[in-house]
Formats: sequence, C-alpha cells, structure tokens
Amino acid sequence: MDWFNNEDCSAVPVTKRLVGCILVVPVNENILLIPCNGPNTILRIYGRVLSDARQKTLRNASRNTGDNMESGRLKIEWARQYMPVLSRIREQFAKEQPFAGIRIGMALHVEAKTAVLVETLVAGGAEVAITGCNPLSTQDDVSQALNSVRHVRSYAKRGATVEEYYAGINHVLDSRPQITIDDGMDLIHHLHTARRELLDSVIGGCEETTTGVHRLRAMAAAGKLEFPVIAVNDTPMKRHFDNVHGTGESALSAIMITTNVLIAGKNVVIAGYGFCGKGLSQKMKGLGAQVIVTEIDPRTALQAHMDGHRVMTMEKAASVGDVFITTTGNTSVITEQHFRRMKDGAICSNAGHFNVEVDVKWLEENAGEITRRDGIDTYRINDRHIHVLAQGRLVNLATPKGMGHPIEVMDLSFALQALCARYIVRYGRSLSPAVHEVPTNLDEEVAREKLAALGLSIDSLTADQIAYMQSWEIGT
Ligand SMILES: NC(=O)c1ccc[n+]([C@@H]2O[C@H](COP(=O)([O-])OP(=O)(O)OC[C@H]3O[C@@H](n4cnc5c(N)ncnc54)[C@H](O)[C@@H]3O)[C@@H](O)[C@H]2O)c1
Repeated sequence: MDWFNNEDCSAVPVTKRLVGCILVVPVNENILLIPCNGPNTILRIYGRVLSDARQKTLRNASRNTGDNMESGRLKIEWARQYMPVLSRIREQFAKEQPFAGIRIGMALHVEAKTAVLVETLVAGGAEVAITGCNPLSTQDDVSQALNSVRHVRSYAKRGATVEEYYAGINHVLDSRPQITIDDGMDLIHHLHTARRELLDSVIGGCEETTTGVHRLRAMAAAGKLEFPVIAVNDTPMKRHFDNVHGTGESALSAIMITTNVLIAGKNVVIAGYGFCGKGLSQKMKGLGAQVIVTEIDPRTALQAHMDGHRVMTMEKAASVGDVFITTTGNTSVITEQHFRRMKDGAICSNAGHFNVEVDVKWLEENAGEITRRDGIDTYRINDRHIHVLAQGRLVNLATPKGMGHPIEVMDLSFALQALCARYIVRYGRSLSPAVHEVPTNLDEEVAREKLAALGLSIDSLTADQIAYMQSWEIGT
C-alpha cells in the first residue's frame, strides 16, 4: 500500500504494487479509499489536488507500470547508468563512426541491457535490426522503445510461437545484415539453411553464449560455416563474470522471486559444474543451501567435491533434491526416471540456453493433473507434485519477473560484443570462415576500462620482471 501525505496530498512514488489495489489517502484528516487500476486512475481522480510537481513525479513513476514504450525507455535509462564501459565505448564510436553504412542483424534477449548495446552500435553509425533469441525472454516495452529509436527495428515479442519467433529472425535477415550478433546461433543457423542467398553480404558474426559456440564449432567442423564468427562467450572477460556471477545471481533471484521459497537449508541440485554451475553453486551455498552437484566430467566433479559440494549421480540426487537447476548445455538431463524419484513439491528449473535439459514434454504428456501459475507449472505424477519454472526455459530470463543478468556484468559482455563487432568490420574480410577467439587486447581493454570505472589501480611489470618471465637460464 502506498500513501499520500497529509500536507499537500503529494504522492510517494507509485509503483506496480498499486495496480488492482485500494489506495488509502489521508486528505484533510479524512481517509479516502480509492479502488484503482493504476496510477493513471489516481491522476484522473486526484489530479486537481496534486501540485504540478507532484503530478509529474506520479506520472513518471506510473510509466513503470505498463507494457509501453515509455516504461521501456525508463528501463533502458536505468540500465545505461550502470554500464560505464559501454558508455565510454559509445563516446568513442560516436567520434569514429566505425559502423557508418554497416547493417547489423541481432538475435539476443531483448531487454534493457541489450538496448544499451544497440544504442552503442547505432551511435557508431550502424543500422540495427534485432529480434529475440528465446520466445520467453523479450521485454515487450523495451522492444517497443527500441523500435522508436532511429536506425533500429525491433521484431522481438514475448511469448512468441515458433512461427512468430522465426518470422522475427526472417525480418532481421530481410535487412541483409553484414554483421550478425547471436545468442544461441539461431540467426546464423537460419541464414545458412533457409536464407542462403544472403550469405554473400555477411562479413562476419559474434556469438554470445556457450551453447551457440558449441553449435558453431560443430558447424565449422562439418565444413558448413561460411563466414568468420568470434566466440565472445569463450573469453575470460565474458565467462568469469557473465556466466559465473551473472547466471549465479540472476538465476538465484529469479527462482526466489518466482517461488518465494526459502533457499537456506534446502538441498539444491546443480547439474553441470561449468562456469554457470560454479556461479550458481557459490551463490546458493552463500544463502545456506546444501549444494549437490551432478557432472559427467571426472575432473570437474572432483573440483566440485573439493569446493565443498556433495557430488552424486542425478539418479541419486533426484530423491534428495528440493530444488533442481540444470546448466549443462546438454539435453535430457532430468527425465522420467528422475521425476519418478523426486520428492513431493520438488522444484525444477533450467539455466542452460535451450529448453531441452528438463524433459517438460514428458511431464506434459504424462501428468495426472497440471496446474498453471505465473511462471510455475505443477505436474501431478502419481501422488506427488513436481513444479517446473518458466516451462524449462532460461529461468533467469523467462520467469515473469526474471530480469536477466545484473546490469554490470552485461556491461562487460556487451562491451566485448561492441568491440568485436568493430573488429569484424575492420578485419573480418581477411579472417577465415571459422570460429575465432576474442583478441586478447580487446579483452584486456574491457578489463582496464572496468577497473578505471571502479577507481582501481593495478601494478605493472618491471623491466626485471619481464626479463625474468622470459628467461630460461635463471633457476636455483
Ligand atoms: N542463463 C543464462 O543467462 C546463461 C548465461 C550463460 C550461459 N548459459 C548457458 O548455460 C549452459 C552452460 O554454460 P557454461 O558456460 O556453464 O558451460 P560449461 O561448458 O562451462 O559447463 C557445462 C558443464 O556441464 C557438464 N555437463 C555436460 N553434460 C552433462 C550432464 N548430462 N550432466 C551433468 N553435467 C553435464 C559439463 O561437463 C560441463 O562441466 C549453456 O547452455 C550456456 O549457453 C546461460
């Protein structure tokens, strides 16, 4: 409940919490109860008693409540202020115009941080066409706000059907991109299969995530990749921050806000102890969970053990776990045999790129009863209930309140994307059609910019130290 205060009937910022509420307003010692559908109703009813300045406050806040262009703009503005590295790059791009006359096609999670990347590319002279890379991760208000920016077209839509999803990809490809920026490789896949006539105009691409890089490497190994792509995911400035801390914090907060259950003391099963799994385990442990790790790689499993987690097979973990999170980038990690062993009330979720890790299809076809809540589907299997978050899609982005990674980590990842896109424009024509690493100097540039933004300094190697590191003669 929000309050107007007595003196001037001014409002504290009105937020979403008001929607569908009764607003309690003390005015001249009377208490008014106002049923309201949102701040606009309040403005209509009480506009006459609010001072102009206060009305303005109320209107600005009200923009946060709807799925509209203005709320999208406010979200983008919010994100922008925590993205200092991208902001420095934007200033540089605005001067240099590295993308003058260049068309960029993107398939990314269309939310506020992504919009700041798009703005950065446009500041550098690019024409951008963008769509989503997951049917459930788009924020429609941000997509609308992006669409209103000059030189940008956004085709992303939350809740897209498969047909709508590929219609978005086709629209982006219709812009005949010279550079592609992908998250999961659906754009490049479609370009190489359904829209091959456009391949000639592409200089190169960038890929954001582990699964996309896996697919690209498989494609290159099969001799099918026809232009150079930079594996942005694989560089330290991406993996050590985005995958570890980004996925760790955002998946944890999405699970908590969607379910409202306590994490402390729960048996939390993390499938896959890679970069994302490590981050998730660390954050869950920090909240007091008993972390159980399942793995297929013996070295990684041993690492999990020595990091203090319990390690077991999914078959065993299935009957012990309270909360499950898959993050393997693999398929069929939690299936029928596991569901049948789970406790009543077990919560399953996925943080891996595609919705293939938890076998939701089997649950849909075999549950005795299905109850659908916002972001949670409950399946009755015999006498037990299994809850699945966000239909088994990326839990941190596809749950109704999932905001994706924290802004500061996306500042780093998208700074890399921006610099790699510029690198493709400069050098792409001389690169082979293969998967390429991020050049180390670009990775270091992002790290240096971030340290500078944080006001942190580091040491430099002395001449002695350089000579020592390069020598083989000096020993005992
Ligand atoms: N949620 C997000 O926002 C987000 C962010 C970054 C990456 N991702 C996605 O998360 C997934 C994992 O990314 P990563 O960078 O941690 O990859 P990674 O390669 O570092 O780790 C994956 C781990 O899973 C293990 N694994 C594979 N199959 C398994 C199985 N059947 N059972 C148990 N473990 C198994 C591997 O041995 C590996 O240790 C990818 O799909 C990636 O695209 C999601």
